[in-house]
Amino acid sequence: MENIVISSSYGLRGEVFTPPDKSISHRALMFAAIAEGGSVIKNLLYAGDVLSTMNALRRLSVEIEDDGKEVRILGRGLRGIKEPNDVIDCGNSGTTTRLLAGILSGNKIFSVMTGDDSLRKRPMDRIIKPLSQMGAVIYARNDNKYLPMCIRGGNLKSIEYKLPVASAQVKSCLILASLYANGVGCIIEDLPTRDHTERMLQSMGVDLKRIGSRIEISPPQRLNPLEITVPGDFSSAAFFIAGALLVPNSELIIRDVLVNPTRAGLLDVLKGMGANVEVANIREKSGETVADIICRFSPNLKAVKIDKKMVPSMIDEFPILCVLATQCEGTTEIRGAEELRVKESDRINSITVELSKMGANIVEYPDGVDIIGKTDLKGTVVNSHKDHRIAMSLAIAGLIAAGKTTVNDIGCVSISFPSFFNTLKALQR
Ligand code: S3P
Repeated sequence: MENIVISSSYGLRGEVFTPPDKSISHRALMFAAIAEGGSVIKNLLYAGDVLSTMNALRRLSVEIEDDGKEVRILGRGLRGIKEPNDVIDCGNSGTTTRLLAGILSGNKIFSVMTGDDSLRKRPMDRIIKPLSQMGAVIYARNDNKYLPMCIRGGNLKSIEYKLPVASAQVKSCLILASLYANGVGCIIEDLPTRDHTERMLQSMGVDLKRIGSRIEISPPQRLNPLEITVPGDFSSAAFFIAGALLVPNSELIIRDVLVNPTRAGLLDVLKGMGANVEVANIREKSGETVADIICRFSPNLKAVKIDKKMVPSMIDEFPILCVLATQCEGTTEIRGAEELRVKESDRINSITVELSKMGANIVEYPDGVDIIGKTDLKGTVVNSHKDHRIAMSLAIAGLIAAGKTTVNDIGCVSISFPSFFNTLKALQR
């Protein structure tokens, strides 16, 4: 088990490029694989989760050329992937599993998917039920709930489906399956979740319309190939934004970060907290909005209230938000975030347990937490729960804790941000 010892910091200063966006990287690979013709993906994320997608696609006989600078994929067409001759191992990646299940359901092949200890505990019934309604034949462990799961796809019927949970993975799975259906499909989402699937498929020629909360998908003949440069990941940038706001003497400029409003909800929350954050140089890149984020030490942060409506646009930022909240004056209330319980770890519980060890005043609720600030944090031994976002959040907490903080089991950061600790070290003053 790999550990790291973090000492309190005298300031984070400089310029940072955070890793390429994980959600967009997964999608670019999968959609290029089922396009017709050659796609080029620049600035793809090289991290555990995206490698799970690459390996899965290779199992389906997709040829991926990768020279370390750009990735070239000769698409096999919507119905050209081949039956895999072994189990598809999705590692730790919910996005790989759920999105690929949509594509596999549309193809007349038999496949079996599995994953690591964490992924095999995550709910798959949320995709199995609607995919089965569309006509895919799917069996999974524990009464059709958990991986391993096997799919025999083909002959899908279009459906109108209202998402029972706000989940971009479920939405994307069903949009992908709808590409193969016999008529126009409709997915209804009450609260908008990340829309990278919709944007990318539209750019590949798919007739996909959003009318209010309805997303209508007309099955296409083909997908045009993709040429894309992946922007920086806001969810990875969030750790450095928080670090700069919390550590005295800090000033960071984070370049080329995706600020799509369905992802960057944390920026609005930070404004409410009174944080010194500027979003500059806003521009369009490969169909997404990117910007540079300038953030400085902010000693007078105020508590905020987060409700259900705000959750989807900042779903992956809750662990780091909890660290920030320990330094806000007043009680930060987070509610309507029960989805955090079914992430790579139960993030409500993992962050409550670990920040409490550091002296935070944090109370766990079924769907969120109360964090009563501000409290001085103290260095101690904390555990990542094998969850990349918990590991990185605790490392940032360590920068403001008195004494030394040991974060145990940090190998998981390679899931989304393999160079996290080196990048953090380079910014320390
Ligand atoms: C993702 C969607 C979210 C998010 C995950 C990536 C995606 O999951 O937490 O890290 O790329 O679509 P849910 O769909 O389970 O909310």
